[in-house]
Amino acid sequence: MPGSVVSFTVDGHEVTAPEGELLVHALARNDVFVPTLCHDSKLDPYGGCRMCVVGVEGSPRPLPACATRVAEGMAVSTNSSVPQFQRTLTEMLLAEHLNGSPGGRPNELLALADDLGVEAPLVLPDAEREPYEDRDLLMGYDPEACILCARCVRYTQEVMQCSALSLEGRGAEARVVPTWGRGWLDTECELCGGCLSVCPTGALYEKAHEGAAAGYESTLTKTKTTCTFCGVGCQVDLNVDPETKRIVKVTSDPSYVSNDGNLCVKGRFAFNFVHHPDRLTEPLIRGDDGELHPATWDEALSAAAKGLSLVRERHGPQAVGFLASARLTNEENYLIQKLARGVIGTNSVHSCEAT
Ligand code: SF4
Ligand code: SF4
Ligand code: SF4
Ligand code: FES
Repeated sequence: MPGSVVSFTVDGHEVTAPEGELLVHALARNDVFVPTLCHDSKLDPYGGCRMCVVGVEGSPRPLPACATRVAEGMAVSTNSSVPQFQRTLTEMLLAEHLNGSPGGRPNELLALADDLGVEAPLVLPDAEREPYEDRDLLMGYDPEACILCARCVRYTQEVMQCSALSLEGRGAEARVVPTWGRGWLDTECELCGGCLSVCPTGALYEKAHEGAAAGYESTLTKTKTTCTFCGVGCQVDLNVDPETKRIVKVTSDPSYVSNDGNLCVKGRFAFNFVHHPDRLTEPLIRGDDGELHPATWDEALSAAAKGLSLVRERHGPQAVGFLASARLTNEENYLIQKLARGVIGTNSVHSCEAT
């Protein structure tokens, strides 16, 4: 019955989970670590890389925890042949992983190899794959970092509902390419960067960071904020380079409720304007000479309050109107109407998006 709870055992210990929950999630909730590479909670169960296999009593072969749902009475084991299987699989992937960091993004495969204490036993002679060139200036793809997990292809199909990317070729020649052999910009791609965000090895990366040192992204400091490009209000992390103090990339976490970590091209890539030299970086007040002069925020707020009070005194509160904007956050828009109604005494509050 949907909504009911089932009991099952993991390495002999009884645990419970909502019926139908994916085993990989149930194990994580019960502090049992199972490595994953192709799994992404945003995407449909796939079971491609086999990194998450566990023993399940009654099954003739190990099952992928990311594509198996819990059931009453299931007996799961993670400590028999599973650890050796994970080590061997990691070694096999490493043997074809010639570039660990094309753009300084985190690499889940290398982190896993570190955790399991395994290294590439050898480099396969045909590991080198045909390089990929594209005129897309925002995103790059390096086949030598790709582990063919298809997270990117599934993301663009399942989340973006488009067919911009495909897996091409077999065996040593396999790689991800824009569908139908077109250039990336000639597909349905909307440059949302979602495929980058789900790539476990950084094989898809921001071109602006091509050649960045391994682990570059982990050196950046993140500040959570709200994208102001439209009224959706996606939650974003501005990644600032501590050396240059500049925003160098925008990411978003799958746990952010308004957008589940998904962004559009504006939120993901349109951040360079922040550092444009023509931007105002301090308040300006027009002086008696008719020119604008730099001021402190206290001075500017006092000048605005004085001006608004003067209009209200001379012409009444209905002479003042406020324009809010869908580019502001809900909280800021709330404060604008509060200021209008509670302080000035007018109901003339409008949004510049409404016509
Ligand atoms: S950037 Fe977005 S739309 Fe383009 S291929 Fe990647 S996921 Fe699909
Ligand atoms: S580019 Fe990344 S997400 Fe796509 S298949 Fe390769 S490793 Fe997986
Ligand atoms: S990321 Fe795109 S959809 Fe989200 S708030 Fe910004 S502009 Fe709107
Ligand atoms: S993470 Fe389960 S099969 Fe890849």
